[in-house]
Amino acid sequence: MPDMDGFREANSFGFGQASLSDNFHVKGASNMPWGMKDRLSRIFNPKTGRAVMLAFDHGFIMGPTSGLERIDLTIVPLTQYADCLMCTRGILQTSIPANVNKPICLRSDAGSTILTELNRNLLIDVEDAIRFNASAMAVMFSAGDGEQEAITAANLVKAVDLGNRYGIPVMGVTAVGKQMARDARYFALASRVCAENGASIVKTYYCDGFEKVAASCPVPVVIAGGKKLPEKEALELCYNAINDGAAGVDMGRNVFQSDSPAAMIQAVHAVVHEGLTPEQGFELYQSLLHS
Ligand code: R5P
Repeated sequence: MPDMDGFREANSFGFGQASLSDNFHVKGASNMPWGMKDRLSRIFNPKTGRAVMLAFDHGFIMGPTSGLERIDLTIVPLTQYADCLMCTRGILQTSIPANVNKPICLRSDAGSTILTELNRNLLIDVEDAIRFNASAMAVMFSAGDGEQEAITAANLVKAVDLGNRYGIPVMGVTAVGKQMARDARYFALASRVCAENGASIVKTYYCDGFEKVAASCPVPVVIAGGKKLPEKEALELCYNAINDGAAGVDMGRNVFQSDSPAAMIQAVHAVVHEGLTPEQGFELYQSLLHS
């Protein structure tokens, strides 16, 4: 039995974090094959069941956005503090030394940039995920987004089919149509659809009523950080998400656009894995600024 400290019990919605009846520390993964479990265990710490994923895949739609102009200078020094790195194959190949030895969640779809309205994403070749020794493949599912919904659902299903063939879990990256409220109803729908289609991890956003989003999704949910917030608010976001059932964060801008990205990712890590309150996390952040 793994150390179950810090796990939430199954709750009234029927799905919690891994419950005591599970024999594996990742929610919904008890019946998976060995290779899948091995990869998930590289992402989700067996002691806490949680993960801090460092997301820096933004460039594939945004170009060199603030904080990501020089991956070698801003991101590489942070890799030591992350449980998993989420990025595209282009950045992995060119800018991340292979000996950082971190699990990779490979952004495995590609499409239009922020300059184009309709996004016709397609999948990269699963063989590249194998070549890069990816621990997971991240693929977007865009709910309620017209034609884009069908395109991204097809990508997700194909990625899961291929991932199952080679033992590589898929992380469903949820999006909702522009006209839709970014609320628990739609995030829960998008998250559940990802899991129903075979995603082993879901990335979504924190919102009011998030506990329903997490509880009604039978696989671990990690939250994106979204636009840059003041550091203390970003730590509150992490704390609330974990408290409401998230299994971790997949955070980008609130780390790499921080005044001190290294201090921030360490504070996020402590909130996620050690249960620091936002106040304690912020104290840690400030103390690391001067260390
Ligand atoms: C966006 O396309 C990406 O999936 C990001 O990885 C994700 O939104 C997390 O980054 P952030 O914390 O900056 O929202």
